[in-house]
Amino acid sequence: MTVQHIDAVIAIDAQGYVDPWSATTWYNEMRDDDRFHLVAIAESHPRGGCSDHPGGFEGAGDRVVGHAGLLFLAGMAHVSNVAVDSDYQHRGVATRLLIELLDRARERGCTAATLEARAANKRAHRLYSRLGFQPLGISRGYYTKPPEDALVMSIRYLDEPEVAERIDRVRAALRLART
Ligand SMILES: CC(C)(COP(=O)(O)OP(=O)(O)OC[C@H]1O[C@@H](n2cnc3c(N)ncnc32)[C@H](O)[C@@H]1OP(=O)(O)O)[C@@H](O)C(=O)NCCC(=O)NCCS
Repeated sequence: MTVQHIDAVIAIDAQGYVDPWSATTWYNEMRDDDRFHLVAIAESHPRGGCSDHPGGFEGAGDRVVGHAGLLFLAGMAHVSNVAVDSDYQHRGVATRLLIELLDRARERGCTAATLEARAANKRAHRLYSRLGFQPLGISRGYYTKPPEDALVMSIRYLDEPEVAERIDRVRAALRLART
């Protein structure tokens, strides 16, 4: 993700987040070496078929359809946000973005990954569980707009072979699935 994607990312967040980041926050994120954000770019509208880039999402397309980001902190990778355009959901976009983030976290030497999700956001919990995140606990009153507890999840040992194998299985399943 670069500054040229900020408007598109804000438009996606307006669909799915109650308390989205401002443009100023996004500009600051782009300048911070301890933050890393990816966008998913589609080549065509989903109803016309969306092509699958084996190497990632950046390519000839021009429509930003999702984004996800990390904060690197004390040897850990914290997933700061994930959102996908409602027209492109249920096609594995968020799963692909998270796989790519976890690859980057490992490359950067992170030993663990963490995140928070709204306690009622079962779809997000399933997404994270599929990739090996496990519930760590509940953070009471973590969210304020509207008030809600957070489920805290983590992958405790990112460098364990089982973690890489699980992610590789999900990656292989995505290659077989229609997008
Ligand atoms: C949560 C969110 C990011 C998921 O994005 P997504 O791109 O739809 O996620 P995926 O497609 O990878 O996975 C979603 C579902 O589609 C299914 N799926 C993936 N690829 C598929 C395919 N090719 N065909 C059919 N189904 C598919 C997955 O198995 C998954 O099913 P499940 O919900 O029963 O577990 C999205 O709903 C969103 O933006 N929500 C609003 C913001 C938000 O809540 N973010 C999380 C903050 S913690």
